[in-house]
Amino acid sequence: MADLQHVLGPADLSDADRAAILELARSIKATDGVPVPSRLRVGALYFDPSLRTRASFEQAVRVIGGAAQTLNPADTWNIELDPQAVMDGTSVENIVEAAGVLGRFFHLIGVRSFRRPGPWAVERTEPVLSRIAEHAGVPVISLEGATHHPCQGLADLLTLHEHFGDDLRGLPVTLCWSWHPRALPTAVPHTFLLQAALAGCDVAVAHPEGLDLDPEIVAQARTAAEARGGRVQVTHDRAAALAGRRVVYVKSWGPLEGGAPTPTSLRHWLVDEAALAATDAAKVMHCLPVRRNVVIASEVLDGPRSIVLDQAGNRLWAQAGLVSHLARRHGVIA
Ligand code: CP
Repeated sequence: MADLQHVLGPADLSDADRAAILELARSIKATDGVPVPSRLRVGALYFDPSLRTRASFEQAVRVIGGAAQTLNPADTWNIELDPQAVMDGTSVENIVEAAGVLGRFFHLIGVRSFRRPGPWAVERTEPVLSRIAEHAGVPVISLEGATHHPCQGLADLLTLHEHFGDDLRGLPVTLCWSWHPRALPTAVPHTFLLQAALAGCDVAVAHPEGLDLDPEIVAQARTAAEARGGRVQVTHDRAAALAGRRVVYVKSWGPLEGGAPTPTSLRHWLVDEAALAATDAAKVMHCLPVRRNVVIASEVLDGPRSIVLDQAGNRLWAQAGLVSHLARRHGVIA
């Protein structure tokens, strides 16, 4: 069995894996995806909503010649997530059998399952994704979990390379928190932080007090960046974190332990042209969906700084590279 099994976060991929995936993504993108028919069958299970991931993951499988099937648990049996549950309620199928069955149909399985209510100490173990990975018997790709969104991270990395060249070491990038009426999950900011660190970028993270990211992921990013000639700095001073930067990745998130909506007193963290004036002509990134004039001003999204659609477009090619790489490593395609 190939050693690369599940992809639940950026650290599940070695530098060599990442380079191979990006190379595959670029070459598939260059041909606009001329599929070579294969026996590859990929399933995707969504416990949470999606536009980009759902559409691009299916198309990614198709452009490499495989067959994709998207499953919405709301349309299947109600799945019990606790293998030890006494199932005398509404759930008629346990995740143990559901995962095992899907593993008999598909060579790879994508799963989206955001963080659930409950302690972060539990959620950071990815209880849904890791349980499916444990019982599926085939590789599982996170389509956004509680801790990470690795497919978004690969698309963001491909986009950074397209705009800033092959070597991202030392590139000044800022992960900049913005206000949102809901306390959003931390998967995307965790992934961008770690992915940029793994590329050796000079990463600043700016957020208000009380919105710390997972300390272990921050430490992991710091170690990864320093090993590659980069660094990670965290600050509550947004102006300092934006000055002279070439990339600003805007994202809102809530406290790790969940809870109340973010106070409206923080609405001034909206990223507009005035906030970006002291950057080094920074490009602006966001994973989408984005609330205009709440998270990012329309003047920014509609202007030349914005590369958010490049990121979204690259979801297709990055995932094609990822699925192709995994399927090759597991001997499903040549
Ligand atoms: N960025 C992203 O994952 O978008 P969706 O939630 O629409 O899939």
